[in-house]
Amino acid sequence: STQKPIAIGGRSYRTDQWTNTPGTILSHIGRRLYLDDNHPLAITRKLIESQFPGPVYGNYSEKDPVVSTAQNFDVLGFPLDHPGRSRTDTYYINDKTVLRTHTSAHQQAYFQQINRNEHTRPEEVGYTVVADVYRRDAIDRSHYPVFHQMEGARLWKRPENNPLDHAAETAAAIMKDVDSIPRHDVVVDDPNPTIHPERNPLQTAHHGEEVEAIAAHLKRSLERMVIKIFTEASKAAAASSPDQDQDQEPLKVRWVEAYFPFTSPSWELEVFWQGDWLEILGCGIIKQDILFSSDVPHRIGWAFGLGLERIAMLLFNIPDIRLFWSKDPRFLSQFRAGKISRFEPFSKYPSCYKDVAFWLPTSASAADTTATAAGGRIGPVIHENDVMEIVRVVGGDLVEDVRLIDAFVHPKSGRKSLCYRINYRSLERTLTNDEANELHDRIRQKLVAEFGVELR
Ligand code: PHE
Repeated sequence: STQKPIAIGGRSYRTDQWTNTPGTILSHIGRRLYLDDNHPLAITRKLIESQFPGPVYGNYSEKDPVVSTAQNFDVLGFPLDHPGRSRTDTYYINDKTVLRTHTSAHQQAYFQQINRNEHTRPEEVGYTVVADVYRRDAIDRSHYPVFHQMEGARLWKRPENNPLDHAAETAAAIMKDVDSIPRHDVVVDDPNPTIHPERNPLQTAHHGEEVEAIAAHLKRSLERMVIKIFTEASKAAAASSPDQDQDQEPLKVRWVEAYFPFTSPSWELEVFWQGDWLEILGCGIIKQDILFSSDVPHRIGWAFGLGLERIAMLLFNIPDIRLFWSKDPRFLSQFRAGKISRFEPFSKYPSCYKDVAFWLPTSASAADTTATAAGGRIGPVIHENDVMEIVRVVGGDLVEDVRLIDAFVHPKSGRKSLCYRINYRSLERTLTNDEANELHDRIRQKLVAEFGVELR
């Protein structure tokens, strides 16, 4: 095709039928919020890094978000039909190039680095890496298309010959490292066995004994990190409202089984926070195929990944994810490097709700027109994330959230109607009704132009 190339960080990328990354997203590249010492994301990064210190862990960041589909998906064993690969979920630059959707895109490079440094820095057998990641998703107070992740991993050497026959030695060496992790007295709920043959299988390249030891190290390391974070958060809460009753709820933490293409077995860690179980991170035993293809075939280990905003929102009591991008001094001046504090919300400006209702195009085959739940394909050619993208491109940071409030299929014609409620609210000023109307009209027109919907 003859589309214009895209320039990112001084490099030019060809575009094609896969390109779906708008300028509004590209404009976020290079902010590097995690490097501004006084920014809550940087303070959060440092706090977590302090739990994964040198010389065992190198603490890194990755500034260029452009990666290949091989790095983001293939190397990690994503099947070809994995939904994460679709254009509705991922920002493509072209068919072979994406904005990374997770920091796992750099796993291979960091494993290769551990191998390269084997003689100069033999103790560095782990890493953390922080980076901006990009996902097409819903619009609400805890989702933003650009956010930040931290990934960590830790490897151990195995005997080069017949490692499965020497699993007990490998496990014993790993357990020594487990014993060096400080103990804690928080009650952690962990009801499932480390390995479950169907739900959470052992890899054929691994012995159960090694995996039990690595799982113990992984879980203890991450529990310690999460406990540290939540202890800091409640200290900050107590300091900011010393008059209030301090009979705070004790910390509750639990492990649940999970699935990732690049780890097995896999888990998620959840924390009970303000009445809900909150997913904090994903982790697991690294697929041996990745270590084979990353120059460290004789090593075995764990990896985890977490979202920094999630944790920072809890730590600092930040109610809206858009605030992280704010340049408003009323926001930025509240944070100091090394200090966990409670965010004092400045006056909220009024919301302006506007609904958009439309009929989906009738070319739809009957099978596709059943009313589906939010978050998926809403018609034969439209995915909910595509609606969100139009709202984002037009409304930018002036939209706080978008909710599907009504969906029905006309009993006679079989046509499907949807109604979305868009909440227009600036973090920085009061929007006029004219302004919101103008944005809303443009969104309506774009829905017609791009999807052929019929406005109601
Ligand atoms: N990359 C995963 C995600 O973004 C998190 C993860 C990292 C899980 C490393 C396991 C190991 O959801």
